Amino acid sequence: MTIASSMSTPWPHRHIISLANFSQQDYDTVLQTAASFREVLSRRTKKVPTLQGQVVANLFFEPSTRTRNSFELAAKRLSADTLNFAPGTSSLSKGETILDTALTYLAMGTDIMVIRHQQAGVPQAIADELDRLETRVSILNAGDGQHEHPSQALLDLFTLCSLLDPTDPRLNLLQGKKVAIVGDVLHSRVARSNLWSLTASGAEVHLAGPPTLLPRLFAQFPGAQSPVGGQIFVHWSIEPALENAHFVMTLRLQKERMTEYLLPSLREYHQGFGLTHDRLKHCCPGVKVLHPGPVNRGVEISSALMDDPEFSLIAQQVTSGVAVRMALLYLIGSGKS
Ligand code: CP
Repeated sequence: MTIASSMSTPWPHRHIISLANFSQQDYDTVLQTAASFREVLSRRTKKVPTLQGQVVANLFFEPSTRTRNSFELAAKRLSADTLNFAPGTSSLSKGETILDTALTYLAMGTDIMVIRHQQAGVPQAIADELDRLETRVSILNAGDGQHEHPSQALLDLFTLCSLLDPTDPRLNLLQGKKVAIVGDVLHSRVARSNLWSLTASGAEVHLAGPPTLLPRLFAQFPGAQSPVGGQIFVHWSIEPALENAHFVMTLRLQKERMTEYLLPSLREYHQGFGLTHDRLKHCCPGVKVLHPGPVNRGVEISSALMDDPEFSLIAQQVTSGVAVRMALLYLIGSGKS
């Protein structure tokens, strides 16, 4: 097992809330560490003792299937003890505050809190309070409102870079590639985190969606400060984004975050921005399709395309999620032992 040797310098982040402060080296460290854990996961015994004795608490204030379960599985594969919180069966329903909930998990000896919340900023607020109390607890943002979903963007990055070089996935493999991100960009924390990682890689990012779900301002997203910083383009139709694209990431329509009537109908949305086999004819040969899930079949992507292994990386993204989340827990947690 050579995971430790993949870290030439100490991991610099106690918390992972956003990818805005990630360096090229941080991305490569995550990719290389995840590749090591992918190898562990291919073994008969898929477990390592790295986080033995540490406690990882999954505090999910908003529903999740992929993120919660893959963080739990990742923690178990690293031999950590896991705690799972669900708001409906917790003392939150009796009036306990979110901060007091976090302090309760702190008092039980939690080392890492994985937090999802429907409001942007909650993981950062808890991290700030735990830092103020001079605890050594780490916070991993598992998706906060419309802000960020860093572990999703990192597993997307790992999926893409592993496709380009299965034995040595690294950030610069995406330099010069055209990546289209299609759909409900406005409400998407996945898109915002991907904008940091993809611009850091030097990819050319083309956003496409209806004006109500894709404000022009996204063209001014600051992007990563890197020598190869990729560009961001905004389109209110899908065709220019798909033209010669190497990868297409389609986003879920986040109906739960829409407070106004932003679309005429789901059928018209599919006609304008739904991904289909036919539409992929505009892309580069060998184009691959991603979706963070959960998917509204027949809305943002056709059922046939979603299930077509020639194009769809959706199942691969979920598989990558375990190795990437093992890497994040390892990088944050191994300094605590
Ligand atoms: N991609 C994603 O965050 O999925 P879940 O909501 O199922 O965790």
